[in-house]
Amino acid sequence: MAADHGSKQVILSGIQPTNRLTLGNYLGAIKNWVKLQSDAACYFMVVDQHAITVRQDPSELREATWFALASYIAAGIDAEKASIFIQSQVPQHAQLSWILNCYAYVGELSRMTQYKDKSAKAGSNIPVGLFTYPLLMAADILLYDSHLVPVGEDQKQHVELTRDIAERMNSLYGADTFVVPKPFIAKIAARVMDLQTPTAKMSKSAVNENGSIFLNDTPKQIENKFKRAMTDSETEIRFDIEQKPGVSNLLSIQAAITGDSIENLVARYVGKQYGHLKLDTAALVIQELEPLQKRTQELLQDKGELNRILKKSAEAAQAHAEKTVQRVYERIGFILPTGAR
Ligand code: TRP
Repeated sequence: MAADHGSKQVILSGIQPTNRLTLGNYLGAIKNWVKLQSDAACYFMVVDQHAITVRQDPSELREATWFALASYIAAGIDAEKASIFIQSQVPQHAQLSWILNCYAYVGELSRMTQYKDKSAKAGSNIPVGLFTYPLLMAADILLYDSHLVPVGEDQKQHVELTRDIAERMNSLYGADTFVVPKPFIAKIAARVMDLQTPTAKMSKSAVNENGSIFLNDTPKQIENKFKRAMTDSETEIRFDIEQKPGVSNLLSIQAAITGDSIENLVARYVGKQYGHLKLDTAALVIQELEPLQKRTQELLQDKGELNRILKKSAEAAQAHAEKTVQRVYERIGFILPTGAR
């Protein structure tokens, strides 16, 4: 049986510790997670095992993992309410992932658009892990009997695949083998676009660094990037993603930070210029990130405290994950070390 969280929904998500986290990760994911942690049983991971599908420098990977973890906590994720952990510290992710490798089909993995994009860029030596990566993600989700998975639009297909595999195994081994999860797509206001190419999502690995606001950018860098943000050749400030993606993105960022409606924001800019919008957005972002940056740096100075938080969270996560692995092992016919059947 699935672990008991009472009537609470289980919510799980994760971010890869590659490069530096961006304003997109913060507004699109972490800031929303903070709101969810009081009402649901939440698991928020730093998915280092996903990161190595692309070659990583070991010390950079370690640093990015600490940074992501500290950012979660600095942003307000409370280890007393939610479970915050590093994926590789819970070995059950790798265990379940192997099982799922044996129930997923090559055909369905070949249809993953992210795989098609990334493998096209990987040249002739494509790591197998890039291909099977969605199964590690499926394991992440299914281990904790997750109901909802907050993800961006680009990860929806992976959650759909997770559903298909869960249903496949449920029909073979019983309907309560896995909870079938649903993707939980953040509202449009939280989808932060690249400042230079506002039709593309803000990325940790953008070609042009000016397109991304990194969580450890200085106020000056943030201001400069917003000043240079791509807009359009008109002058009117209104929300129109098709015609005015750059201006709309700045309005969205303001809405995500302040909670104001786009309508109210637009009304405030009647008769004003793009320069005002850019500077205001920069000021809001700087103000929003300042306490977070300060706290992140403090936490990074105190790895002992971070390790204590991790240990506690990882133990709780592992207990849940182990139950799931045992349930699955037993159903597929593995002999559990604890008892003969
Ligand atoms: N694949 C996700 C991404 O690249 C990260 C991720 C890994 C994830 N495991 C997850 C997200 C489980 C949600 C749930 O963005």
